[in-house]
Amino acid sequence: MRRGRYGTAAALAAVLLLAACSTGEQSTLNAVGSGARRTEGLWWLMFWISMGVFAEVMAMLGWALWRRRRAEAVIKGGDALGLVTVLGVAIPLVILVIVYGVGLRDLNALASAPGGADVNVEIIGHRWWWEVHYPDRPGAVTANELHIPVGESVRITLRTADVNHSFWVPQLMPKTDLIAGKTNQTWLHTDRAGSYRAQCAEYCGQQHAFMALLVIAEPRARFDGWVSALAQPSTTTLSAAEQRGRAVFEQGSCAACHTVRGTTAQGKVGPDLSTIGSRWSIGGGAAPNDATHLGRWITNSQTLKPGNAMPPQPVPTQDLPDLIAYLQSLR
Ligand code: CUA
Repeated sequence: MRRGRYGTAAALAAVLLLAACSTGEQSTLNAVGSGARRTEGLWWLMFWISMGVFAEVMAMLGWALWRRRRAEAVIKGGDALGLVTVLGVAIPLVILVIVYGVGLRDLNALASAPGGADVNVEIIGHRWWWEVHYPDRPGAVTANELHIPVGESVRITLRTADVNHSFWVPQLMPKTDLIAGKTNQTWLHTDRAGSYRAQCAEYCGQQHAFMALLVIAEPRARFDGWVSALAQPSTTTLSAAEQRGRAVFEQGSCAACHTVRGTTAQGKVGPDLSTIGSRWSIGGGAAPNDATHLGRWITNSQTLKPGNAMPPQPVPTQDLPDLIAYLQSLR
């Protein structure tokens, strides 16, 4: 009785877990990209085969127990050999050949983008952020954010500046590693507009968990507008406070590591900050992008993302609000 109750609880937990997995924003079982749909299909095929095998084994076990109780346990030698040959060799062989065949078919389909690439992107992995370039639009550089047009194929070239990382957009595409000294390629394609969270999927050190990226799939016209703006210096008119903030940024240590297009800040060590004001987060998912967290990040980012490359900045207290206002104006 007790064991039965535990069994029911375990089955219920498994169903709940499965339900949660198939609705999450970072779930491969909630695929909306052509690539992820392939692996999702393969996953369900293997799941149902496993369920079938499990049911068969349980049925055999039940049958054996039932026979044993009725003291008819002995199976004759010939029957036993036949049973083992069919259930233990022939059926598993057929199942493995089917799964192998489907796996090869999917590997081949995942090797190249459907219909060839319409947009090219270069992504460079850093500990612990993503540098994003659009090589077809010189100067279009951003970080931890990737815009793509809906319904078109995007070819992504992957490199790393330090250790190995892995690029993974669970809802759009399976993982592709960024391997030191090597260039890899993958692609993205989705017919549904939306935001899809991506995550580094290869342990790369202390802040591996906060090496996230947001993929934003939008209609072609919006994408074109966004990427054109990204390639050009900002045309926003700055308020007096924002202008003071810009001077602090250009004359202080910020400019040594960060670039803002159209200014004298051309550092290449940290992420390009030309559109920091509109990004979904700061620190690759480490903190929300608001004035409070920007202030904390500037003065001592180690409290938000320990181990990251940016040392604490002794910005005078009276300059900090202007600097934050300037950063928030960069869109
Ligand atoms: Cu990069 Cu884990």
